[in-house]
Amino acid sequence: MRAEAEIKVEENNIICDVNPKMYGVFFEEINHAGDGGLYGEMVRNRSFMDSVIPEGTAYFDGKAMTKTTHVENFDTEDLLPGWSLDCGEEGEGTIEPWLLQPRNKQTPNQIKMTVSKINGCFPKLVNSGFWGMKVRCEKYRAVLILRSEGVGNVRISLEKDGMLLGEAIVENIGINFKKYTVQINCVEEVSGAVLTLTPLNTGTLYLDFVSLFPVNTYKNRENGMRRDLAEALEKLKPGFFRFPGGCIVEGISLENAYRFHKTIGPVEDRTGTYNLWGYRRTDGMGFYEFLQFCEDIGADAMYVCNCGMSCQARKSEEGTEKQLAEFLQDTMDAIEYAIGDPETTKWGKLRAEHGHSESFPLKYIEIGNENGGPFYQKAYRFFYERLKARYPQLLYIINDATGIERTEYDFLDEHYYCEPAFFAAVAEKYDTYSRDRKIYVGEYACNTGVGIGNMAAAASEAVFMISMEKNADVVKMASYAPLFCNVNDRVWPVNLINYDSDRWFGIPSYHLQCLFRKLLSEKMAECSVKTSSFTNAARVFANAGILGEDTVVKAVNFSSIEALAEIRLEKSYSKVRIYKICADGPCEENSLDEPEKIKIQAEEFQMDGNEWKYTLKPYGIYGFMFLK
Ligand code: AHR
Repeated sequence: MRAEAEIKVEENNIICDVNPKMYGVFFEEINHAGDGGLYGEMVRNRSFMDSVIPEGTAYFDGKAMTKTTHVENFDTEDLLPGWSLDCGEEGEGTIEPWLLQPRNKQTPNQIKMTVSKINGCFPKLVNSGFWGMKVRCEKYRAVLILRSEGVGNVRISLEKDGMLLGEAIVENIGINFKKYTVQINCVEEVSGAVLTLTPLNTGTLYLDFVSLFPVNTYKNRENGMRRDLAEALEKLKPGFFRFPGGCIVEGISLENAYRFHKTIGPVEDRTGTYNLWGYRRTDGMGFYEFLQFCEDIGADAMYVCNCGMSCQARKSEEGTEKQLAEFLQDTMDAIEYAIGDPETTKWGKLRAEHGHSESFPLKYIEIGNENGGPFYQKAYRFFYERLKARYPQLLYIINDATGIERTEYDFLDEHYYCEPAFFAAVAEKYDTYSRDRKIYVGEYACNTGVGIGNMAAAASEAVFMISMEKNADVVKMASYAPLFCNVNDRVWPVNLINYDSDRWFGIPSYHLQCLFRKLLSEKMAECSVKTSSFTNAARVFANAGILGEDTVVKAVNFSSIEALAEIRLEKSYSKVRIYKICADGPCEENSLDEPEKIKIQAEEFQMDGNEWKYTLKPYGIYGFMFLK
């Protein structure tokens, strides 16, 4: 059985312009997206703060509790996650969590390591990173803050099952905390490696901070990003980069909400924050690093601020007037830090001291994340009026516009997480929107009943993206969510880019995102589709646009039978370049072992005239570029 689809393109009938930065990315620290993900740090629990109970909670009987709710997934068993002691057969030593005589009272947690007997076997402290470290033939920079009683030198090495991959010696460790930086040159490539610290004589070592980065991070930033994952983002050509979330903006309580102040300055002094997705984050990827990354990747920065309320899905706490004012001040300071004058403003000066005197590309402020209701209306207005008065050049995004005048925001953020049929069922949704509404689809994904993200999910998102592009006068921006997932900590079912410490792959939706961004038209043209099939269950969706001299037609066959598409254009073309994403079945997925089972494939044909016939595979996604 086969369906037939007639796609009629009117290139001379332009319906709207397209925002060239329409597609961005949504970043949130979820599924170890930052720590153990994009952030290049290889040591897990580098400040030993991972077992600190969540901000704003009290702990009793194995549970941490806010004023209103219990915190799920807070693990109290392991006091030193990521760390262990290996004494070999003959060595003797201990490690224990330590708080006394801290270097910094805000980050008091340390490890006290005592080596009492060596006997040919040096006890060593081991860090296994984020489910094993990937070591390549390259240089690594280790930064340690240590003090010792009796231990003179410490060997720091990368190892795998006793095999030495590279090492350095930290020498003459004194009785006061001091920062040591050493370089380790590795000459082997292995995955599943560990970092070890070996005191070379008996005594006691106090560790305040242990960090390890490849020297060659993305754009060689010292506190930078993992290269392969940053390059995976580069392929998405993000027009904007939304951070830091997501629910982590809101927090499980107001004490736990995102606060920009905590995330800047020396990384060893950052306390980190309990991440409501089940682990503590370092905030090493702090406000400065986010902004630097936006600049490095050529994206406008979109900062989502807390507006004085914690996560409504987690029994929200609504701030007092004083708290609202505090959160507003935090946002004002963050903005000044990003774009304030480096000589005349307090926070602009600090940014310059941190290494960036030019302002960062901050363009958007979203006030709250997924908030709504009467309290939100009040909080939104309180923030918007003051922020707009001080920073009229920025664009403001609202979560829920109920009761708010159209003049009081620039974009409304809509979120969709759904099952495959949903996007096809609402494909005409934006056709009916009043044209003065400006929408930012801040989070969307087909993520229910589709494994970790399969071909059917991508096809259904293609339907939605085709419809967003057709309505590009209303839908000005969109970002798929969530972006990242370490396969060892999947708390959210479907995520665009998956990885361990070694390899990565994009789900079919990732390839769809790459395709639609590569073929993003400058203007949309009129395009209509008629699909005929015996049961009407088959449906082809398409749009058309102009890109330079070329005409682009995007199409998806959202059905389980083939469809013969007949594309009729107004003008004549000499060539058609076809990009397609197809699979053998709707449930097909990519994986670490088969990262590109489903990917974009390209082919090119000569043509002469204004008609082109092509068979669209079931759930196949297509981009046709008609060239003069
Ligand atoms: O993307 C995952 C979560 O989904 C985000 O944190 C939240 O905004 C939404 O509910």
